[in-house]
Amino acid sequence: SKGEYQDYLEKEIFEQPESIRRAFGNGGRLDRDFGTARLGGIELNGSQIRNIRQAHFIGMGTAMYAGQVGARMMEGLARISSHTLDASELRWSNPIVEDDSVYFALSQSGETLDTLLAVKELQNRGGRVYGIINAVGSTIARACGAGVYIHAGPEVSVASTKAFTGQITSMFLLALSFGRIRHLSPSEGKRLIDALELIPDQINQILAQSAQVQDIARRFKHATSFMYLGRGVSYPIAMEGALKLKELSYLHAEGFSSGNLKHGPLALIDETVPSLFIAPEGDTLDKVISNIQEVKARKGPVITVTNADSRELEELSDALIRVPKCPEILSPLLTIVPLQLFALYLTRELGRNVDQPRNLAKSVTTD
Ligand code: M6R
Repeated sequence: SKGEYQDYLEKEIFEQPESIRRAFGNGGRLDRDFGTARLGGIELNGSQIRNIRQAHFIGMGTAMYAGQVGARMMEGLARISSHTLDASELRWSNPIVEDDSVYFALSQSGETLDTLLAVKELQNRGGRVYGIINAVGSTIARACGAGVYIHAGPEVSVASTKAFTGQITSMFLLALSFGRIRHLSPSEGKRLIDALELIPDQINQILAQSAQVQDIARRFKHATSFMYLGRGVSYPIAMEGALKLKELSYLHAEGFSSGNLKHGPLALIDETVPSLFIAPEGDTLDKVISNIQEVKARKGPVITVTNADSRELEELSDALIRVPKCPEILSPLLTIVPLQLFALYLTRELGRNVDQPRNLAKSVTTD
């Protein structure tokens, strides 16, 4: 039941500290001594993992955006060339399946037909596909036969939230364990595990500031078009943040890499179009700040989600949402939370049905 919450979406957003803990097995999937993770469902031995040349993450919608984060984690931590594929496209693309490739199918429901058919097409070509699935015993989980359950618990609201963060956590464990077999040092592995274990409490800190996000949603409730921008691991977060807003509020929202701003989207900016920038501390922060300046020069309102101590960011932003500090590679688990809340509160302001948006189904079993 919804318990103390107004709708399932709110409940599921607020459950994320717990659901993320379950994704790392309440510690049972972490090996602190060796700075690595253990995922029983991935039956690849060390030499097989060392021989992987390509990893592909497939899914639809939110699961696909989670896959884009996962691909960046796999490249960053395991130095395996990684790609994300839209499952509905893959099926018709005559995919090239090589012996040194590995595939991961992402799905909350485990029933998405586009994803299932892509899994079968890959398997027909001899591809190894592992599931990263929430629903235990679901069709895709059974088709894959092996993989990782994310243990997010039942997700009722049509808009996916805790499954997204559960999938990202699982892929982080995967990338960490592959990384430790390949290039990553024990001390780096330990540093990342320590940072991961802080995430649930850090999300609690963000949730404790939900009233601030609600105020920002009220301030911007008359806008009809929103831009979401980020770089690196925050690019898929921009895409996912925009998807949350469009599917829940029916407002126009688009995600871009902030580097692409000058290549067209900047033409959309004026004082009526707010831009949400995802700007975590890290390699790309300076570049994101210059993108924010470009938007401000066109009078675009800016809402920034950041964990950086930057005067410049504060001065440039019309609204600023702070998240706690963490390694940039884990930042998607924090930066997505205010964007989920923003979509929830804006949708409530507009009086729309939060759990059952028009035209959408929780699981799409047609292709
Ligand atoms: O059950 P799945 O994870 O396979 O579903 C995939 C998409 O249909 C799903 O994520 C959809 O995009 C959500 N409504 C997004 O909130």
